[in-house]
Parts: sequence; C-alpha cells; structure tokens
Amino acid sequence: MKPRGMIGYHPEQIIPHDHILRYSFKERMNHWIAAGSFIYLMLTGLAFWTPWLFWIATMLGGAELSRMLHPWIGLVFFVSVCYMFTLWASQMNFEPVDKEWWNSLGHYIRNQDDQMPPAGRYNAGQKLLFWSFFIGGLLLLASGLVLWFTESIPWNLRWLRYLAVIVHAGTALLTIGNFMIHVYMGVFAERGAFGSVIRGDVSLAFAKRYHPGWYKEIVGETETQK
Ligand code: HEM
Repeated sequence: MKPRGMIGYHPEQIIPHDHILRYSFKERMNHWIAAGSFIYLMLTGLAFWTPWLFWIATMLGGAELSRMLHPWIGLVFFVSVCYMFTLWASQMNFEPVDKEWWNSLGHYIRNQDDQMPPAGRYNAGQKLLFWSFFIGGLLLLASGLVLWFTESIPWNLRWLRYLAVIVHAGTALLTIGNFMIHVYMGVFAERGAFGSVIRGDVSLAFAKRYHPGWYKEIVGETETQK
C-alpha cells in the first residue's frame, strides 16, 4: 500500500544494492535496434552524400549492397522509432519544469546539478531529442519513399523529387547532429546513463542527481527528505 504523504512511491522499481530499474528489457532492445539501424543508415547515407566518404560503402560490402539495404534498414529504424513513440511519448510532454530547465541550462553545462529544477524521468533536453528523432524519422521516411520509388512519381509531380532530395539530406544532417550530442551526453557527460540502456538500472544516487522528480516518484516524498 502507498504510505501516506508520498507523492509517487513505486518501491517495486527499487532493486537490490540501492539501484532503480530505469529501462525494461523491451525498452532496451528497441533502443538498440534503433541505434544499430541508425548507425548503418548514417554510414551508408554519408557514403552516398559525398564522394569523399564513398569508401565507407566499400568497407560495408560495396555500393550495390549499401544502396539495396539502406531503404530496408530505414524501414527498421522507422518501425523502432514508432515503437519508441508508443513506449515513451506519454512521458515526453513539455511541462512548466522543462521551461525552468532550459532557463537553467548554464548550471547544467557547469555540472551544478543542485541548482537545476527537478527533472522527472526525462529532462527537457532528452524530451527535445526524443521529438527531434520522431519528427526526423517521419521526414526521413516520407522523403526516403519518394527517393526509393522515384520512377513511379509522375513528371508533373517532379517537384516532389527535388524537395525530397533537400528534405532527406537536410533532416539526416540535423539528426546526425542530435545523435552525436545524444551519444556524448549518454556515454560521457552523465556517468551511469550508459549502464541503464545496457543493464536497465541506475543507482539511487544517479536518479537523485539527474532526475530528482523521478527519484521522488519512485522512493516517495518522505524518503527523499532523509
Ligand atoms: C550508439 C548509439 C547510442 C547510444 C550510445 C545511446 C545511449 C543512450 C543512453 C545512455 C540513454 C539513457 C539516457 C538516460 O536515461 O539518462 C539513451 C536513451 C535514449 N536514446 Fe539513445 N543511444 C544511442 C542511439 C540512439 C538513437 C539512434 C536513437 C534514436 C531513435 C536514440 C534515442 C534515445 C531516446 C529517445 C532515449 C530516451 C531519452 C534520452 O535519454 O535522451 N538513441 N540512449
């Protein structure tokens, strides 16, 4: 039973050795399918984009294979992003605390976590990243389909092809930029985050430092005052 005075309290998520379950197995599996497919798309896409990087396609089995697999792996990425949407979208709504979080970005960059407003399970930066991947996924799919079935596009709609070239490359470059920030944040900036998408758990100290709102929901209000 939920003890009185506790705003959240989900002790079932607390696991031995003072750790909390952050990502379930299906969340982790889906995340790594998205990551693996994205990396393949990024590498082959960059190879198609400029002759300077064409050697990447050669390393990945040759131009024909890369060209053949790129759109299919694109579908895998899109499906995993859609599944990610069903898993996480409800937790990615922007709330008043997120505005405060952006206003305190300077503290975040200087690692002054105690001066940050209490982020929930996801902070405002993570929410922005989630939506940028989702909208990026939609734009990449729509423009990618036009490029994939370009011969089926009637001549009077050829502007769609011109548009698709710009949208596909522009969105890919923006998404690659977001991806690099995401990997830097997840692997180097927030110590303990990477383990959460491998093993599934984080320490109570990690949750309290980076996601105090979420920590409060799990351990309960009165525990946090200890
Ligand atoms: C090698 C590639 C990647 C690495 C190392 C990586 C790492 C991580 C880490 C450590 C987290 C947990 C962050 C936390 O909960 O504090 C995470 C979460 C997440 N990842 Fe990735 N990721 C990669 C690729 C991707 C890709 C391609 C996508 C695009 C769909 C993606 C989307 C997300 C989202 C939406 C979250 C939850 C929100 C967030 O933490 O930003 N990741 N990832």
